[in-house]
Amino acid sequence: MGKTPGLAVIIVGEDPASKVYVGRKEAMCNELGMYSEKYALPEDTTQEELLALIDKLNNKKEIHGILCQLPLPKHLDEKIVINSISPEKDVDAFHPVNVGKIMIGDFDFVPCTPAGIMELIAESGVEPEGKSCVVIGRSNIVGKPMSMLLLHKNGTVTTCHSRTKNLSEITKQADILVAAVGRANFVTADMVKEGAVVIDVGMNRLEDGRLVGDVDFENVEKVAGAITPVPGGVGPMTISMLMKNTVTAAKRAK
Ligand code: GUN
Repeated sequence: MGKTPGLAVIIVGEDPASKVYVGRKEAMCNELGMYSEKYALPEDTTQEELLALIDKLNNKKEIHGILCQLPLPKHLDEKIVINSISPEKDVDAFHPVNVGKIMIGDFDFVPCTPAGIMELIAESGVEPEGKSCVVIGRSNIVGKPMSMLLLHKNGTVTTCHSRTKNLSEITKQADILVAAVGRANFVTADMVKEGAVVIDVGMNRLEDGRLVGDVDFENVEKVAGAITPVPGGVGPMTISMLMKNTVTAAKRAK
């Protein structure tokens, strides 16, 4: 008998978006026949209580992956919490050991969103090698690891951010453009090269309740060679990559 991959998902507080994401992660585990444990902790959970739970899960043999949904309530220290997850069970690849491994190109876990984006780019048929790859955003979760993965595939990578000057001049050069900004309709058609692969990581809730990405999809679609929608593009890929990392963790624990 092989072992069943097990994932523990921790959520602290009542953030509505986080609740939706965690629900999807649990549902996907069930769909795939994986074992999962969900810990929905109250907003006033103390740092000690959270660290005690992570310590218990670090030592639990049925659990191969641990994910603590971010952002955490303000009174909790994200850095300390991330650092307390065993690197062998860190299926988010947020622990400094795993971040360092990604940097040198020798990694077991790939952060889920950038990993999912690499799959989408591969599916488009456009190879990053030698191409201009532009990432807008430099977060630890998406922008930085995304740039690193494209670099490992021999892309010529530019990482843009809020202080970047002449942004559209840079984005217009991009054969592959990844938008991880967090602002609705930030990337407009005049910023995109004809035929570019455009990946939209944004998840922005409009006042009327609609969920949109960072890219003005309706107009950019006319210019791009390939483009991901929101919802239904990067989001489901992120969850698939989390499952893949959990299977990797279970195999490595054998
Ligand atoms: N919050 C937004 N994206 C993520 C993610 O990929 N992992 C975790 N743990 N929290 C998130």
